Amino acid sequence: MSRYALLTISAIALLSSVVAGDFTLPVKTCKRGSDDYSSCLRLAIQEALPAFVKGIPELDFPALDPFYTKEQHDEYRNGEILGNFLVYDAYTYGLAKARIKAVRPVFEGDNFRLEVDYESPKFFSEGKYKADGRIGSFKLGGEGYFNLSAEDVSVTWKIEGKVVDDHWKVEHFHVSPQLGKLKVYFSNLFNGNDELNKAAMQFVNEYWPSLTQSVLPIASKSWDKVCTELANRIFSKVPFSKVFP
Ligand SMILES: *[C@@H]1O[C@H](CO)[C@@H](O)[C@H](O)[C@H]1NC(C)=O
Repeated sequence: MSRYALLTISAIALLSSVVAGDFTLPVKTCKRGSDDYSSCLRLAIQEALPAFVKGIPELDFPALDPFYTKEQHDEYRNGEILGNFLVYDAYTYGLAKARIKAVRPVFEGDNFRLEVDYESPKFFSEGKYKADGRIGSFKLGGEGYFNLSAEDVSVTWKIEGKVVDDHWKVEHFHVSPQLGKLKVYFSNLFNGNDELNKAAMQFVNEYWPSLTQSVLPIASKSWDKVCTELANRIFSKVPFSKVFP
């Protein structure tokens, strides 16, 4: 093999190890302890958002807007709602328009917690579902299409975990949304009974403020699992001291 070929091969090997082993996160860093630390982080997250929203294949990180849910199963045993719900093949839109309002970083010994407040004018979700159980006095059982649009949405994320060996191991990712408006559509919740379906839809669209109060604690358990796993796809691959110097 010629000297030139060898050089080329070793140059390629070097290049690929830099790309694979040292992937640079598209995030501006902020100096811990500086006066404007929180506002610097707020801006850094706002500026990095489009890159995360698009997805980062190098980190096996999926697109967030739309965010695809292959399937999510929830069991509700709460207030007016009892039942099993399976949502599948669903897409959720809205994170791309998020405006980061505030960021609160909290360092406590080995623990790090990052709280993020953001607003989005609208979230829209649509997909398929299967359900059985009851809502109020309606006994339900069916499967079909659903969509859901939420407006004037404010969300707080609380992301927390231990920093071990210079890696942030996220243990919980709490998502608490507040909705200004909610409109829900679903088909065939009562196995072909359109009258009941319509009545239940009216019920949900009228009483959503109290219904979401009972649904959110259960939904947020599922979100915690999904979001924790997603966050760890990033933080397991980058040293903590590089992201939060
Ligand atoms: C939800 O789906 C229904 C039925 O297809 C449709 O009429 C409605 O416009 C959809 N809602 C939104 C916000 O797109």
